[in-house]
Order: sequence, then C-alpha cells, then structure tokens
Amino acid sequence: MAQSIQGKIALITGGAVRIGRATALALAAEGTHIIVHYNRSGEDAEALAEELRSLGIRAWPLQADFSRREEYETLIERALETAGGLDILVNNASIFPRETLDSVTIESVMENLEVNAWTPFALGRAFASAVGRGAIVNLLDSRLDGYDWTHVGYFFSKQVLELMTRMMALKFAPSVTVNAVAPGLILPPPGEDESYIDKLIYTVPLKEHGQPEDIADAIVFLAKSRYCTGEVIYVDGGRHLVEYSRSTPPL
Ligand SMILES: NC(=O)c1ccc[n+]([C@@H]2O[C@H](COP(=O)([O-])OP(=O)(O)OC[C@H]3O[C@@H](n4cnc5c(N)ncnc54)[C@H](OP(=O)(O)O)[C@@H]3O)[C@@H](O)[C@H]2O)c1
Repeated sequence: MAQSIQGKIALITGGAVRIGRATALALAAEGTHIIVHYNRSGEDAEALAEELRSLGIRAWPLQADFSRREEYETLIERALETAGGLDILVNNASIFPRETLDSVTIESVMENLEVNAWTPFALGRAFASAVGRGAIVNLLDSRLDGYDWTHVGYFFSKQVLELMTRMMALKFAPSVTVNAVAPGLILPPPGEDESYIDKLIYTVPLKEHGQPEDIADAIVFLAKSRYCTGEVIYVDGGRHLVEYSRSTPPL
C-alpha cells in the first residue's frame, strides 16, 4: 500500500540538475517539499527552487561538498534546521571518473568511495538517528550485474553502496526503509553528447535509452512504499538481463 507523501520533506543530493532535478519535480508533483542539495550547481539549484515555489512547493537550496567531511557530516542537521523537518533522503549525487584497471589509483578509489558510498551511508545514518522514521532511496547502476572496465573506482563504490543499502535496510528497520534504484543508459555523462549512449543502445533489450523521469518514477514509488525495504529496482530497459560486459574482454 502506497503512503501519501504530500506535505513531507525530501532531501535530494545532487538535486539541481539531470536525474536529481527530475526527481525533485516528480516528488513535488506528489506535494512533497524539497531540499535541493548541490555542490557546484548553485544557480541551477536556485532556479529549481524558484520553479518549485511557483508550483506551491516549499524549496530550499543547500550546499555541501561530499569530498569534505565537515560538510557532509553536518548536512542532515543543516537540512533539519533549514526546513524544520525531513522525511525522505534521496542519495543521488555521484562522481563518474574515467579510469581502467591499468590507470586506477588508491586515491581515486578513496574519492569514489567517499562521495558515492560513504557519504550516502553517513547521511543515512544521521537521518535514521536524527529523524528516526522515513524513507531512504540510493542511486546505484544497472551495470552492477556486470563490470565497468572504464570507471573502476566508480564501479567499486556502487558495489559498496548496494551492500550498504541492504545493511542499512536491516539496521534501520522497522522505522526507516532503505531501497535503491539502478539506472541503465539514461543520460550521457556531463561533457559527453547523445552519441555516448546512442552507440550502446544495441545492449538494451527495449532498444532505447531511458529518461530521467523513468528513474524519478521508481524513486517516488520507493519513497511512498510502506512494505519494500532492501530492494533494488532496475530501470534499464532490461539491460542487466543481458549484461554484455560479462562476456567482453577488459579494456
Ligand atoms: N546518467 C545515467 O545514465 C546514469 C546511469 C547509471 C547510474 N546513474 C546514477 O544515477 C545518479 C544520477 O545520475 P546523473 O547522471 O544525473 O548524475 P551526475 O549528473 O553525474 O551527478 C549528480 C550530481 O552529483 C553532484 N556531485 C558530484 N560530486 C559531488 C561532490 N563532491 N559533492 C557533492 N555533490 C557532488 C553534482 O552536483 P553539482 O552539479 O551541484 O556539483 C552533480 O550534479 C548517480 O548516482 C549516478 O551514478 C546515472
């Protein structure tokens, strides 16, 4: 049974642009007020907050750099002070540096782990402790069922976040649910054009790339769900079913 999230407050990390922005608009369509976390996209965060306010939604941009411990460790506290409450945490922010098994370094692995896995866990733990009830949704990657030979540190970090999703779901039960969405080919990485994903469409059984709204729909479903926890929804046109990187040689 879905619960209403009208009047609730959601913190979306990396919420100013791309999938985070679509998630903000989808949650707002349910009547949820939005804390738009950003790091560098301050202008986009302000513009989105204005757009949400024009729809009758309360919205607050909030900055934090997840490579700086003092910034992410205080984010939940600052969100609660800013908005006066918190019900939903969407761990969407992520880095995606290009590196292979030949070029990856321990420094890069640690950076990926800190931004993509440790911070979602630290925010989740602070959320569970300070709020004590609600829903957490983590963003994974449908490639988890195969290998990502060209984003190795990122790939490690998302594997860890999948594990942490299950551990948090158990630790924070029964009052906080923790679930995840695993997107497939949705948007090209920042700086790349559509050809980046177009050339990979042949790996997708549904033969098209997804839209940020497809991911946002799944996040809204999990945020409203009363009885799902520790679950991962793949939103990837079936790509993980035929994950081609399992049978391709490492680059
Ligand atoms: N795009 C896809 O097709 C795809 C596929 C599989 C999985 N995913 C996952 O889905 C989620 C959203 O994807 P996306 O492509 O929309 O993400 P994105 O644009 O690559 O990144 C989202 C946001 O993360 C924030 N961020 C990066 N480094 C940060 C740091 N050090 N501190 C705080 N925030 C930081 C940035 O915020 P600012 O702009 O404010 O700096 C950025 O806008 C990610 O977790 C991604 O791994 C996406």
